[in-house]
Amino acid sequence: MKGIIIYKGKYGATRQYAIWLGNILDIPVVMAGNETQQQLREAEYIIMGTSVYIGKLQLRKWIAKHHDLLINKDLFLFLVAGTPVAEKEKLQGYITANISSDISTRCSCFFLPGKLEFNKLSLSDKILLRIGSRLAKSRGENIATADYNNVKREFLFSIVDVLSKLNDVTVK
Ligand SMILES: Cc1cc2nc3c(=O)[nH]c(=O)nc-3n(C[C@H](O)[C@H](O)[C@H](O)COP(=O)(O)O)c2cc1C
Repeated sequence: MKGIIIYKGKYGATRQYAIWLGNILDIPVVMAGNETQQQLREAEYIIMGTSVYIGKLQLRKWIAKHHDLLINKDLFLFLVAGTPVAEKEKLQGYITANISSDISTRCSCFFLPGKLEFNKLSLSDKILLRIGSRLAKSRGENIATADYNNVKREFLFSIVDVLSKLNDVTVK
């Protein structure tokens, strides 16, 4: 079965997961926008990887743009975020708020922990994070501003497990 990984992130966490996964499944890994129409048409399953910034999925515009093509594929989505993976409702909320329901209900979704290196953020992201975190606090929520790195290859095992049960998907 032919697959492709399309990802969009900003500081490397989503990209790292996408590369690891592409390696395990031996399928192409392409940054959103760099794919060809032929690659998308030929893919029987598409794995989409995205991070989240102040509630917005990096890949949301790409998904909306390719809606008509995605609707006919087997879809997988991994979401990379600062929110702990145990907070499933909140993470699922990001998906519901960013992706039309006819696409999101077709997706098998996986939540992966991200990383943050405050000093490496652009000035606008530093400001956005500070403001976003304050606003979240006032709603009784939490967006972490202190550094963390929870990106680990083994967190991909659950998605690999599901994919390996599909017909003709080989796992290295
Ligand atoms: C400005 C900013 C806003 C963020 N907003 C959220 C958020 O709303 N929810 C969340 O769970 N994580 C949030 N995060 C954490 C990122 O999703 C996390 O750092 C992720 O690993 C980024 O992945 P990337 O490097 O692939 O873009 C935010 C991080 C930054 C820098």
